[in-house]
Amino acid sequence: MNLQILGTGSALPKEVLTNKQLESIVETTDEWVKERTGIAQRHVSTGETVASLATDAAKKALDAAGKSAEDVELIIVATCSPELALPCVACQVQAEIGASKAVAFDLNAACSGFLFALNTAYSYFSSGLYKNAVIIGAEVLSKIIDWTDRGTCILFGDGAGAVYVEANNELPDNYKFVQYANGSKGMVLTCGLRDLDNPLHKEELMKKYVWMDGREIFQFAVRQVSACIEELLEKANVAKENIDYYVLHQANARIIEGISKRLKEDLSKFPTNVEHVGNMSSAAIPVLLDESIKNGTVKKGQTLVLSGFGAGLTYGASVITL
Ligand code: COA
Repeated sequence: MNLQILGTGSALPKEVLTNKQLESIVETTDEWVKERTGIAQRHVSTGETVASLATDAAKKALDAAGKSAEDVELIIVATCSPELALPCVACQVQAEIGASKAVAFDLNAACSGFLFALNTAYSYFSSGLYKNAVIIGAEVLSKIIDWTDRGTCILFGDGAGAVYVEANNELPDNYKFVQYANGSKGMVLTCGLRDLDNPLHKEELMKKYVWMDGREIFQFAVRQVSACIEELLEKANVAKENIDYYVLHQANARIIEGISKRLKEDLSKFPTNVEHVGNMSSAAIPVLLDESIKNGTVKKGQTLVLSGFGAGLTYGASVITL
């Protein structure tokens, strides 16, 4: 079964927050942030929501594919920062774009979410249940960031990316993936949601902002992502020479450099946009993919590795020939 990415789209909030502006919010410098992370600025919501950004990205992906929302069978939104617990973002997108025949649901695997959602669509396609889908990664992380914590607030940004995908049984298999979770390490990257508050019991459970052990995550990312890409390529029987680009989760430019070193692959095979968007969690991979297609870097016929990692801890990698 051939997984065809027929259209991509992305949406970023209109306002930008630069490192220079952050200097007046927390004790940091533009130089420190650039040197340790590669990030110079990030887009931050001044009213855009996960649902509005996801809808915008989905419409652009459908337009790029030349497809009508009425024919969409499946919508999955990967997000860890929805505004509403109910209804899910995917159902809001469904209503906004008029995809009345689609089944729609959200999936939370943090920064691996988009990839896990794509794997879910592929598995549905393989079973014959659906034959097309809109897969979206969308986040407004700025509302769950502690803007007094200089160790985290410098890293994250808001945005959404989407792909329209179709199954094609006439063409050869072009997609393989590996995906993992390690819940025993889950408490190194956390964010509380609601406290216990019922007639019998009240208890504050956890901080309502993103908290993380940055160094632990850094090491986990470099080690596990490179190992799982090696495993994927062996499983898929694809040599590294045949990989055109590695479209990785954009958390930190130094993590990407570390992965490229471990894989012994030239850094020029790793497109990045972290400099101008920061870490957008589940939106990172589809936004980078969209930008790389639009600027002519990524083209039809090329073979890509997509790889994500994040809270959970979750991680995975996929190889696709476009
Ligand atoms: N500006 C200036 N100094 C800062 C700072 C900031 N924004 N943030 C932290 N520091 C300080 C620390 O307080 C520390 O000072 P100390 O030595 O006096 O205690 C020093 O810089 C070094 O901190 P450290 O945490 O060791 O820095 P680092 O090189 O590990 O970089 C991160 C910190 C967060 C940038 C890095 O660990 C990272 O990117 N980790 C991965 C996080 C991530 O990607 N999470 C999401 C995964 S999906």
